[in-house]
Amino acid sequence: MCGIVGYVGPRSALGVVVEGLRRLEYRGYDSAGVAIISDEGAMQTAKKAGRIENLDAELAELTISGSTGMGHTRWATHGAPNDRNAHPHCDVTGRIAVVHNGIIENYAELQAELEQSGVEFSSDTDSETVAHLVAAELAKTAANGGADDLATAVRTICRRLQGAFTLVLLDRDHPDSVVAARRNSPLVLGIGDGEMFLGSDVAAFIEFTKQAVELGQDQLVEITREGYAITDFYGAPVEGKRFTIDWDLSAAEKGGYDYFMLKEIQEQPTAVADTLRSHFVDGKIVLDEQRLDAGVLREVDKVYVVACGTAYHAGLIAKYAIEHWTRIPVEIEFASEFRYRDPVLNRQTLVVAISQSGETADTLEAVRHAKDQRATVLAICNTNGAQIPRESDAVLYTHAGPEIGVAATKTFTAQVSAGLIVGLALAQARGTKYGDEIAAEFRALESMPEHIAKTLEGIEDVRTLAREIADSKAILFLGRHVGYPVAMEGALKLKELAYMHAEGFPAGELKHGPIALVESGLPVVVVMPSPMGRPLLHQKMLSNIAEISARGARTIVIATEGDELAAKHAAHLIEVPAVPTLMSPLVSTIPLQVLAAEIAQARGYDVDKPRNLAKSVTVE
Ligand code: M6R
Repeated sequence: MCGIVGYVGPRSALGVVVEGLRRLEYRGYDSAGVAIISDEGAMQTAKKAGRIENLDAELAELTISGSTGMGHTRWATHGAPNDRNAHPHCDVTGRIAVVHNGIIENYAELQAELEQSGVEFSSDTDSETVAHLVAAELAKTAANGGADDLATAVRTICRRLQGAFTLVLLDRDHPDSVVAARRNSPLVLGIGDGEMFLGSDVAAFIEFTKQAVELGQDQLVEITREGYAITDFYGAPVEGKRFTIDWDLSAAEKGGYDYFMLKEIQEQPTAVADTLRSHFVDGKIVLDEQRLDAGVLREVDKVYVVACGTAYHAGLIAKYAIEHWTRIPVEIEFASEFRYRDPVLNRQTLVVAISQSGETADTLEAVRHAKDQRATVLAICNTNGAQIPRESDAVLYTHAGPEIGVAATKTFTAQVSAGLIVGLALAQARGTKYGDEIAAEFRALESMPEHIAKTLEGIEDVRTLAREIADSKAILFLGRHVGYPVAMEGALKLKELAYMHAEGFPAGELKHGPIALVESGLPVVVVMPSPMGRPLLHQKMLSNIAEISARGARTIVIATEGDELAAKHAAHLIEVPAVPTLMSPLVSTIPLQVLAAEIAQARGYDVDKPRNLAKSVTVE
């Protein structure tokens, strides 16, 4: 969702800010804007609905210069995505400019108060209230003879705000600093040499520095060329947590691919290998990044997995693995539903929260609910220091590197791998598997990057197929056992990228309704289990293929190499390497990612930035 950049230093702030906004484009947005304080002390703003190119065109007509500034990409919540509602927003005098990510839940009440005092609003956003409130606070302090200090005024106003916010503010009268504050929305600080940066995430300033600081909940930071000062909302100094960014600019660039997503699909062998690395030492599963005692895992008698979207599909696979290896009952929930249905949780419950970004508001709220109910929370996350791992009892990081394409690909396979590690760690702690069995499973896991690489070698055929079926009205996806989450993931990828009607069903459910959708020529993707691993399921899937073929569907079957029966019954066969059943999603998902990306390209859509979507969904 919204992307935020801030800068103070010797460079042209406009250049740094616009480049930072480009690097944050992947978060999803529908308008963009900047505010720069000129060396003469003028507040210069520009904002435009649509892509950053529209803002570029606007900027080309203006002369904006200065070395202190901020920028924003807006994903509309309150107010339509138009020029008027784009950020930044200023107070009536134009002294204060603000950009905001999040939702100010009590904005209506604050707006009414401001309107009563004569303020006229120039947008339909909740965010504009902050500019007016801060300006009013500064005016009040000045009238009382107090210090003319933006940071103090922002702290006072933050204490009145409810909801989620990252705010960055500029004060025309104090052009040498930028003030930012956060609650429930992300913000990191980049430390340069004589310059400082702010960003919704580190991608905003990765080309300038690798030294960063996490800004904690309910904290405010003021940056100047000389350094930074962090306080809580009452002014007490706080030590920020410093970290070094462990990836470089090349990871955030396309590297010769037309789209980030295509590069990220190819990076999956490395993403999985890096996620597995160092989790099996001296014959034992090691969760060294986590702070969980083995005793806590031993006591677990119930597991909930909570996640959204693609992470939910990874969670479904984790459920199958954890139940199979540990015999602990596992429930999986959409994070957005979890806390509203009063789930039964206690000290013996382990909640596994899966989130690539670690920012997803629904998952964060589910984590908070679980912690309130005294459950133990283990996060699986791809973003170092994000809010979800910070609030969880323990974290298992996936090491997929930055994922810029909105559609999750390499982070999905990394999450599946992490879910399998959690399953093995629980089996080890509870003694439901012998050491040699765990070792054998982990060795099989370690060979998966090789199998994924092999699968990727064979995707040319999927590309051709994609172009053939790109005009279809809809595509159905069927699977059983772990093939079912793969089918759901294939359908989600197609919906979000190709804007095509797609559904993933458990194959057995077909005749309970969805089969009515099958008509002549309809492509139906079938994720086959291996005949060796699951002979019974394999047989049943063959019957499903027969049922849909008999009704004229065009069956596209993803089957294990050498599966002659699948080859005989499929209209189109896509082969993947033979691997253990619980690990098979790591290979069978790959052709579905390619299929969706290729169909989207054939239909002329931007694969990296699908409409209406945001990479990090920071509002509920
Ligand atoms: O950052 P998260 O893993 O918490 O995000 C969850 C979903 O929003 C995300 O997986 C979404 O479904 C993707 N766009 C799917 O490709």
